[in-house]
Amino acid sequence: MLPNTDFTTTQSYKYLADHYIDIVSKSLKELFNTDNQRFKKFSIQFEDILLDYSKNRIDDQTIALLIQLAKECSVNKAIEAMFSGEKINVTEGRPVLHIALRNRSNKPIYVDGKDVMPDVNKVLDQMKAFSHAIISGEWKGYTGKPITDVVNIGIGGSDLGPVMVTEALKAYKNHLNLHFVSNVDGTHIVETLKAVDPETTLFLVASKTFTTQETMGNAHSARDWFLAAGAKEADVAKHFAALSTNAAAVEKFGIDTKNMFEFWDWVGGRYSLWSAIGLSIALSIGFDNFAELLDGAHATDEHFRTAEFEQNIPVTLALLGVWYNNFFEAETNAILPYDQYMHRFAAYFQQGDMESNGKHVDRNGKHVEYQTGPIIWGEPGTNGQHAFYQLIHQGTKLIPCDFIAPAQSHNPLGEHHNMLLSNFFAQTEALMNGKTEEVVIEELKAAGKSEAEIAAIAPFKVFEGNRPTNSFLLKKITPHSLGSLIAMYEHKIFVQGIIWNIYSFDQWGVELGKQLAGKILPELKDNSEISSHDSSTNGLINQYKAWR
Ligand code: F6P
Repeated sequence: MLPNTDFTTTQSYKYLADHYIDIVSKSLKELFNTDNQRFKKFSIQFEDILLDYSKNRIDDQTIALLIQLAKECSVNKAIEAMFSGEKINVTEGRPVLHIALRNRSNKPIYVDGKDVMPDVNKVLDQMKAFSHAIISGEWKGYTGKPITDVVNIGIGGSDLGPVMVTEALKAYKNHLNLHFVSNVDGTHIVETLKAVDPETTLFLVASKTFTTQETMGNAHSARDWFLAAGAKEADVAKHFAALSTNAAAVEKFGIDTKNMFEFWDWVGGRYSLWSAIGLSIALSIGFDNFAELLDGAHATDEHFRTAEFEQNIPVTLALLGVWYNNFFEAETNAILPYDQYMHRFAAYFQQGDMESNGKHVDRNGKHVEYQTGPIIWGEPGTNGQHAFYQLIHQGTKLIPCDFIAPAQSHNPLGEHHNMLLSNFFAQTEALMNGKTEEVVIEELKAAGKSEAEIAAIAPFKVFEGNRPTNSFLLKKITPHSLGSLIAMYEHKIFVQGIIWNIYSFDQWGVELGKQLAGKILPELKDNSEISSHDSSTNGLINQYKAWR
């Protein structure tokens, strides 16, 4: 059973509310000036990952109170409940066991009395053998040629994780060309099919439910294209594999269940890259690297489960997030990787976080009276610096930012990495310290500006600073460290969901739009005028019919 505590009624919450008044008037600069141990105190190293959270608007008392909050909300019990396979996804009646997919210790994890590990390992073996056959060229297409291109057809969790990881680990890529089709917009599949050859292409139809409209639409179009190119029904088995929990639907689609890589309903879509959904990752970087990714995540799982909260990276990230979300009323959280390969990391956690904690009903079925999940967004630095950082530095909104960078580049080229990292270090320093009016005036004087010019321009050049940041410095982005980092963010989301007393592992909020689209689709079949909706929806549909 998950604990059920309204965190706003805890003692620590009340203390935090008082303490906030004290902290909000202090600047980060001041906090650093009065405590030269901040970096030492407020940083955690785990394996080759260093989290520096000292540039946050916190002091010793903040951390002590936040940890008390985690304890009062029984975060420990919740962690135990998840790891032991309890059905903590209550609204869907399922356990939440992405940790089992990367349980490299193989310690049994029971669901309804059955150890899930033998099945997990069986599918991993199947993925290993299959990826080896494809990569080595042993597996032949219908005309006897080896596979050169892999097209993953999936959406949401059946797309974003594989896309993000294959991009992040591109330095480990083999000769196979990977393509990802997610959007039901015909352009996505059409443009992808233009680039591949039916004789040498493998399609992975990735869908937990195998009912998702976008994925099924794209998969059918891919199959039609394949058959139209001269292949026979019997050839489908050589070119289509399914990654799913739904064997019946896979069979109905016409994919041989021998080519089905199974996973289970206790794997949430947005937590599924560790499952058979990760087959495109294994194909792209080889199974051994995929196993390294699992190892890295498992290492974080152990850290999360066993480390004291003071030394626990996911718990720390979560508590800082609660501090800004519920006390400073920050609405968003930016994730800013200083690594080009990590360019889809923020997009990945947009789903991970927002689909998990974008909830307004608590675990008692009551409307919450506090803020839950933040808006997650971000782009790689330094591109972001030349786009939206202006608002972070000088806008009116408080935006806590996570900066992420590797110390070692996969592409050391002249001074590039030092240039990149100098920006990484400079940004968090600038956001913290800002620039005072005195400094601005001094600079303008030194530049030879007149008194009048200085008075006119100085206010615009002032940076208030006091903008909080986390910095993740990784030794290098490897399959292992990436696996660890992803798992840290996953568990952060989990801890926040526990504190906010919501269910993080369902996603009913995506259903209504799907239902309505299902109702509208038949109305689009002919050109008759529609009047069954509100005037706006009718007007748009009728104009669409007139113009199409
Ligand atoms: O509509 C949201 C969602 O259910 C996500 O949670 C999921 O990752 C995605 O759709 C894809 O679902 P499936 O893997 O079943 O096709």
